[in-house]
Amino acid sequence: MISLLQKLPPSLVALLLQSAAFMLVVSAVREFGLHPAPLATALLCGMLAAALSRVAGMARWWLFIQFAFAPALVLMLALDIPPGFFLAAFLVMLVVYWSTFRTQVPLYLSSNKVWQALASRLPAGPFTFIDLGCGIGGVLAYLSRIHPQGRYYGVEAAPLPFLWSWLRTRFGGSRGCTVHWGSLWHHDLSRYDVVFAYLSPVPMAQLWLKAQQEMRPGSLFISNTFAVPNHPPHETIDIDDLHRSTLYVWRM
Ligand SMILES: C[S@@+](CC[C@H](N)C(=O)[O-])C[C@H]1O[C@@H](n2cnc3c(N)ncnc32)[C@H](O)[C@@H]1O
Repeated sequence: MISLLQKLPPSLVALLLQSAAFMLVVSAVREFGLHPAPLATALLCGMLAAALSRVAGMARWWLFIQFAFAPALVLMLALDIPPGFFLAAFLVMLVVYWSTFRTQVPLYLSSNKVWQALASRLPAGPFTFIDLGCGIGGVLAYLSRIHPQGRYYGVEAAPLPFLWSWLRTRFGGSRGCTVHWGSLWHHDLSRYDVVFAYLSPVPMAQLWLKAQQEMRPGSLFISNTFAVPNHPPHETIDIDDLHRSTLYVWRM
């Protein structure tokens, strides 16, 4: 059972365990003829959901979410906020984060110091560069100003960040940039001299396989912050920014 749960996306596991906790608490309350206040019921659901999540081997930060979810729901309902607000908030989250529940790669941005370190690694002559999951296009816009001899590409799955990076690179004075809407997994990496990614620990092993299969010998694969398990990089660059980022560099 636990190994089956571990094959599912964590968001789905969290939902299943919340539902299980809710059903168990409601059946117990009925069985014993109790009438607890909604917040007390929610706290019981939260505690049980967190305990089940621990048994299911979910990451530690999920336990807090699982504990707080039902009580937060009860407290928010007590505030009597118009339902349209929740719909609007959901739609904004949807266009910004899109399939994060599946990819486990949310939107967060490389620092300016990472951009500068990347710029120092780019070739002096013409080259092609891609940012896999280009977010709002900051990396592309910066590098294209510093190294106008390059051709820059971005691929982004989430609609709003894609639109932002498309507008930014098209109308913001950047030259030589092309941004595509879609999944990085459908993008052939053999056309690029430098492939850059700032994703999460989750896709790195699979991305490494893709890079090995598709990238040309001599091209550079650079990952911000997330290493590839069991494949030490040829170079690491420590960045003195807020997140203490590290660039991992492989020559293919
Ligand atoms: C951590 S952000 C990095 C943004 C930008 N590259 C930077 O360094 O500032 C990761 C981005 O990858 C996007 N993403 C995640 N999975 C993706 C996929 N399979 N295909 C395309 N984009 C993806 C996310 O929507 C998010 O915008």
